[in-house]
Amino acid sequence: MKKIILVIVLSISGLGFSQGNTHTQAAGKFEGLAMTPPMGWNSWNTFETNIDEKLVKETADIMVSSGMAAAGYNYIVLDDGWMTRERDANGDLVPDPVKFPNGMKAVIDYVHSKGLKFGLYNCAGTQTCAGYPGTRGYEYQDARFYAKLGIDFLKYDWCNTQGITAKEAYSTMSNALKTAGKPIVFSLCEWGDNQPWEWGKPIGNLWRISGDIYPCFDCEFKHEQGNWSSWGFMKIIEMRKDIRKYSGPDHWNDFDMMEVGDGMTNTEDKAHFTMWCMMASPLIAGNDFRKMSKETLAILTNAALIAVNQDEIGIQGFKYAAEDGLEVWVKPLSNGNWAITFLNRSERIKKINFDWKKNTIKDVDFGYLADFNSTVFKITDLWKNKETGNTRKNFISELAPHDVIALKLTRKTE
Ligand code: GLA
Repeated sequence: MKKIILVIVLSISGLGFSQGNTHTQAAGKFEGLAMTPPMGWNSWNTFETNIDEKLVKETADIMVSSGMAAAGYNYIVLDDGWMTRERDANGDLVPDPVKFPNGMKAVIDYVHSKGLKFGLYNCAGTQTCAGYPGTRGYEYQDARFYAKLGIDFLKYDWCNTQGITAKEAYSTMSNALKTAGKPIVFSLCEWGDNQPWEWGKPIGNLWRISGDIYPCFDCEFKHEQGNWSSWGFMKIIEMRKDIRKYSGPDHWNDFDMMEVGDGMTNTEDKAHFTMWCMMASPLIAGNDFRKMSKETLAILTNAALIAVNQDEIGIQGFKYAAEDGLEVWVKPLSNGNWAITFLNRSERIKKINFDWKKNTIKDVDFGYLADFNSTVFKITDLWKNKETGNTRKNFISELAPHDVIALKLTRKTE
């Protein structure tokens, strides 16, 4: 008799356990958190692991006082280096008490009190790229930790991942975040090694498509240690210009944090920012706000270009034409409008003489068409912030090396 009772109890509790799992485990990303490319700031490009509470607070303050927040930048993301080298006795991650003497919650509350959002970083592997505890095997525990802290964004890297499958690893973390219940933008940082654009849409809101950016126009920077390179911004664009059909609202190709204000010329910074807007890339600044020049601020807060980046149809632009270093990039916008950028990739001054009537622009991936024979567009120069005629006459100008002219073409309705 005793035996029978035991068997019944076991099977009931077994049933209860599996039902519990079904009820509490959720799958898929939080939908709708990034309907336009996320905008914000990330600590890595300038500070690497030299981050602390003071830096976050000062950055948040300047984000608001400088007008960056009003321009749309709202995420402050702490990258690698925010934790101690070991988890605690319960296996929880520990914010570094020297860098964050009041704990991470105090920092997050401060950022939130400024009307901004807050993000953290970790890695799918056993350790982060800088050697701090990775998430592998702790996905659900870490997701609960982030939910409890109240973060809004998680960047999830791909170091020390030997033997695991990217799609599975990112799915597990995505499901863990969903299960923990706090809506968190999930930013996949897998460098494009396993084509995240092909499988990332149900899992994350954005995914890196390349190795790390480097503050140069078109160079490859080979790291002495390890067999890897960082890339000038035009290299990243060239590398991934053909995967535009995978990007869109809530599932963005991420061209990496920006290097505007990090050592290139203002002309190159202007080109870099313009192209990130043309590519509908997330706009995550990576410069030191405390030392930001007026020129850098003006570039990062160009409202007309931000509007191109944030346009609601969310289409990544494409290279329409190239001749002898002069390139023409285009991006369909809502209401049948377009952005068009002339980019001088060469080291010589280039003359532009663009005959609209001889150029019918077709977007074969998304089915948009600009036919200048049947439609006249008003032209606005997005850096000069002024109207400059229409598409009845050729567009004639000159372009210095590495410079851009960015135009918005607005369909004339009269
Ligand atoms: C990788 C990422 C970078 C940064 C570092 C941190 O290289 O691609 O963006 O997060 O790791 O260690």
